Amino acid sequence: MSKESVTLTNNSNGQSVEMPLMSGSLGPKVMDIRALYSQMDLFTYDPGYTSTGACKSKITFIDGDKGVLLHRGYPIEDLAEHSDFLETAYLIWNGELPSPAEKKKFESDIIGHSMVHEQINFFFRGFRRDAHPMAVLCGVVGAMAAFYHDTLDINDAHQRMIAAHRLIAKMPTIVAWAYKYSQGQPFMYPKNALSYAENFLHMMFATPCEEYKVNPVLARAMDRILILHADHEQNASTSTVRLSGSSGANPFACIAAGIATLWGPAHGGANEAVLAMLQQIGSKDRIPEYIKRAKDKNDTFRLMGFGHRVYKNYDPRAKIMQRTCNEVLDELGMRNDPLLQLAMELERIALSDDYFVEKKLYPNVDFYSGIIFKAIGIPTSMFTSLFALARTVGWIAQWNEMIQDPDQKIGRPRQLYIGAQQRPYVPLHKRG
Ligand code: CMC
Repeated sequence: MSKESVTLTNNSNGQSVEMPLMSGSLGPKVMDIRALYSQMDLFTYDPGYTSTGACKSKITFIDGDKGVLLHRGYPIEDLAEHSDFLETAYLIWNGELPSPAEKKKFESDIIGHSMVHEQINFFFRGFRRDAHPMAVLCGVVGAMAAFYHDTLDINDAHQRMIAAHRLIAKMPTIVAWAYKYSQGQPFMYPKNALSYAENFLHMMFATPCEEYKVNPVLARAMDRILILHADHEQNASTSTVRLSGSSGANPFACIAAGIATLWGPAHGGANEAVLAMLQQIGSKDRIPEYIKRAKDKNDTFRLMGFGHRVYKNYDPRAKIMQRTCNEVLDELGMRNDPLLQLAMELERIALSDDYFVEKKLYPNVDFYSGIIFKAIGIPTSMFTSLFALARTVGWIAQWNEMIQDPDQKIGRPRQLYIGAQQRPYVPLHKRG
């Protein structure tokens, strides 16, 4: 039986070439265009990569029309309900759920390595106190390459694993310290007796002056938020990590590049932007004005926390996040918080508005996560750092998969050049 292919015909010269079709285990087929340039002297043009598969991956599958998200085949709903963040991290990195002994070992490998090199403590002190935490994260995570020299050989699988463990283990400490530094409070060191999420909340909110008991409902909510953000296929920051890694750059530099990309308001910065938007709207009676602005082509305003490149249905993470949000608000007795009431009303109106319905613009994960973070007492400027903390798992697993892919090459897109054609240099005295 002949292999499936697509025939491409160039109408200008009649040349036809067969492009093989590749099938994955799920999702649409993919046209293999690797020979396009050599056979037809053509490039493809796909800004934003809306139709481009840049790699093969076994980690995460999304069906945006059906609202399905699987990590290594397991639905996100099951992981959020039955798993915990470190188990999900193990799954994403290793491909299988751990046995009880593997789970215990992984937990001890991560939780036992959450302290950072003491010199990093001094590195923090070089930043301004009012620095944005994402700026601090980019710097400190990139600088980890200067502290952990023994895990920079990307061709050594063991070193890659230790680098991954270090990043997953130390991110909560680095994120919490970015907050403590901004507050002028002493850094809290990690406690190995606490779970991953508890430890993070403890380092964020405890001070050396008094005992701080982590609220178990908030710790569970935090753990679930981390699961929901752990990986998301080839999004902008993950693609950045892969592209950076494709040149052979070290893992800490690649993750720092991912953090930089995540910072943007169209990506991870949206959770912070949602809160800013709610504050800007201010009261329920002003919602119609902002819905109108969001629909106006001549206005740059968008409803932050709505829409997604891949999901044209409810983001499955948003549904779980909405439930978690209710649990947290109940626990904290914050159901009547005016900003949260405003968010719920905005969601209700947007979901019934023709513009949003027709364009399939549903609330995304960032819409609810910002509300939960605010309720927990995390300042707005820290929101995207929490996303980065969770996504480090996905970034490093995708980076590791890329390094081992035999098809992997340095990422090097081409372009449609629209600039000046070749022309002679004009000496300065003959110009103007
Ligand atoms: N408010 C108003 N209109 C919107 C919105 C929105 N939030 N999102 C998309 N649209 C409109 C857009 O104007 C366009 O209209 P038209 O077809 O008439 O030109 C149409 O919907 C398609 O939008 P697009 O910008 O072409 O779609 P995209 O896939 O390039 O963008 C997005 C996806 C997430 C960047 C965009 O929906 C957006 O800017 N949303 C707000 C920011 C946000 O919440 N980002 C978080 C995304 S989820 C987590 C993450 O990735 O980190």
